[in-house]
Amino acid sequence: MLYPVIWQNDSVSLIDQTRLPNEYSVVQIHRSEDMAQAIKTMIVRGAPAIGVAAAYGMYLGAREIETNNHHEFLERLEKVAELLRSTRPTAVNLFWAISRMMKTAYETLGTVENIKQNLWQTAQAINVEDLQTCYAIGNHGLAALPTTPEKLKILTHCNAGALATAGYGTALGVVRSAWGEGRLERLFADETRPRLQGAKLTAWECVQEGIPVTVITDSMAAHCMKQGLIDAVVVGADRITANGDTANKIGTYSVAIAAKAHHIPFFVAAPFSTVDFALADGSQIPIEERNPAEIYQLGETILTPSGVDFYNPAFDVTPAELITAIITENGAFLPSELAKFQFQPII
Ligand code: MRU
Repeated sequence: MLYPVIWQNDSVSLIDQTRLPNEYSVVQIHRSEDMAQAIKTMIVRGAPAIGVAAAYGMYLGAREIETNNHHEFLERLEKVAELLRSTRPTAVNLFWAISRMMKTAYETLGTVENIKQNLWQTAQAINVEDLQTCYAIGNHGLAALPTTPEKLKILTHCNAGALATAGYGTALGVVRSAWGEGRLERLFADETRPRLQGAKLTAWECVQEGIPVTVITDSMAAHCMKQGLIDAVVVGADRITANGDTANKIGTYSVAIAAKAHHIPFFVAAPFSTVDFALADGSQIPIEERNPAEIYQLGETILTPSGVDFYNPAFDVTPAELITAIITENGAFLPSELAKFQFQPII
């Protein structure tokens, strides 16, 4: 099993996802600033994984603060939180994990050393809980999938796999569980322009485990549906609002529209830490815009003539009415049923 973020040798080991599939390498992170940079440059990416990484980043930042003064410590820890929050705006798991770490800091009685120790324990708990959550999503997803045909052809977009979580994955967790139970014929993976997380990461994870995978370009998805090649779509999420609208990798919305047009069930698989009950609907989700070079440059090659403009939103929002069910660690729900879980924000 793949663990993209683990605590090892007094620092954090990250699988460098910018180098896969050509090179498997691990980066050691010792400082909160380096963790912020790793999240920004997508050495670590995927909503739950950046939540786990940010939690460890908070601990690393706490460890760097040299004071015994409670008040000064908390003030300086807020600055670490601010830095980590500024890395990527869309995935709410990042903000959720940082808030949980801050809550630990504020609620720990005793010395600054006690707080640091508790912060480390909370980061470890966030990591372990996310792994358990992914296994539960896999099981609930298996139960939610269509019962016919016996062996399903599933389409996914981007990478919501082990690499995007503490391990096992959300959407790819459902695929793994289906494969384990003999219910998967094949996974179709959209390549996922512009950063190609599907072609590079989802395909790589499948190859590691012998899961049959066919990579298609994003624009082929509707055609494949029409050809009868897809029985269900399962994707991950970066932020789900109270009404079930779901932000995920750019291109997800088009896949959902195509699935609706072909009467194919469209599932979102995500932990409850991805649900932002503070936002009423998807129009309020901040959408990250990334460097246009992601569109016009492939390696050393420039793809477009000079003089053109670019627009590079990293995520889009799929309206709740296009979603068949949201698969969580607590079961699969209609988007409209989410509201009954209305949790209090952490702080
Ligand atoms: O920009 P990325 O690669 O971080 O985007 C990842 C996605 O959109 C995933 O589908 C989402 O974070 C869910 S990961 C379990």
